Amino acid sequence: MQVTLRQMVLTLSRAVDLVGVTDVFHGRRVGMMAVECAKSLGWHTATRHLLFDAGLLHDCGVSSTREHRVIINELDWEGANLHCEIGYELLRSFAPLAHLAPLIRYHHTHWEDMPGLPIDPLVASHANLIHLTDRVDALATRYYRDESLLLHVGEIRDLINRHRGQFFAPALVDAFLDASAPEAFWLLLDAAYIPQYIEDMGRFSETRTSTLAELKQFAFLIAHIVDAKSHFTAEHSLGVARLSRFLGQLAGFSGDHLEKLEIAALLHDIGKLQVPDELLESPAALSAAEFAVMKKHSFATYQILRQVGGFAELALWAAEHHESLNGDGYPFRLKSDAISTEARIIKIADIYQALAQRRPYRKPMPASEILELLRKMQAENEVDGTLVDRVALHLEECHSVARGEAAGSGL
Ligand SMILES: [Fe+2]
Ligand SMILES: [Fe+2]
Ligand SMILES: [Fe+2]
Repeated sequence: MQVTLRQMVLTLSRAVDLVGVTDVFHGRRVGMMAVECAKSLGWHTATRHLLFDAGLLHDCGVSSTREHRVIINELDWEGANLHCEIGYELLRSFAPLAHLAPLIRYHHTHWEDMPGLPIDPLVASHANLIHLTDRVDALATRYYRDESLLLHVGEIRDLINRHRGQFFAPALVDAFLDASAPEAFWLLLDAAYIPQYIEDMGRFSETRTSTLAELKQFAFLIAHIVDAKSHFTAEHSLGVARLSRFLGQLAGFSGDHLEKLEIAALLHDIGKLQVPDELLESPAALSAAEFAVMKKHSFATYQILRQVGGFAELALWAAEHHESLNGDGYPFRLKSDAISTEARIIKIADIYQALAQRRPYRKPMPASEILELLRKMQAENEVDGTLVDRVALHLEECHSVARGEAAGSGL
């Protein structure tokens, strides 16, 4: 698989930006504005790339759509540092992106508070630029939709300037005022122009490809972000991946094939990041309108993963976890012979793990009841009977693997 670091950053940023629900470009705009300001400062190419990546990923500690709303609607608020610390811990633990961790840690720290902290002055300055462009995007966000942004540029520039020396370094405010004087700075933020900007940045980035072990670590990183969305779904992706791996072993998979299955399972619910928290935590059955929103998530997973080089097959395994053998699943309504064994495994693992976990409307189910439900689904031709038989044969082990109570099988 030919996955470059830039592709990993972009994939992660597309996932994180989903948390904006209807406006899914926050991170990308913050990165673009940081690059434009860096140009005004005369900062060289390597620094521009560093800032671009930091902008793309700065909010990787935000999985909740409720929290994202606060972040976008307030200029400064109590507890802003919480998501910075979460993002810092996440990136710090993944070597290829660990260099971005300190920038993300301090992206809501006021400039006037920096001298008391143990930060390298250059890192402080870079983090503060992300802080500045992040706040610009928060101020601009309400104007993207009705195309009135150019009418409000003056007030946004004034507001940022008013916090010169307190929130933001004076030199960075100057650079922002310089970079944002032309209309083009603001017009560039239109969703129509973002992909081209990203492509242009990509032309000059490094091309080293990742190992499968790195990709798996990367999938764990994304799974942690997805699972952090709600305490109800804590460890869901991790449990689905463990059970998928176990069922894959029972199906005779081994080596890289098994690794790829596990990666697909870790990533199956990326699209859930776009589902509003209120829906996921709803104690009542979803209305038709709510279910229509929910149905978008596995398609969003597909759209994000298919853009990764070498992920074409894996993207389908992940995205088909709500397809049914009877053709009534979503989003592709595939018939049974079009659904791969890998997707069938992830579907069973997904159902099993969700039922073994508490939900707002029910307690965790015991293994016997889960099997009973899987048998009903088998009778409706929704899930693969061979796989249900295997679950039945190894029921206790499946249960503890799904719940993370055992290290795995001895197979
Ligand atoms: Fe933030
Ligand atoms: Fe942000
Ligand atoms: Fe799902």
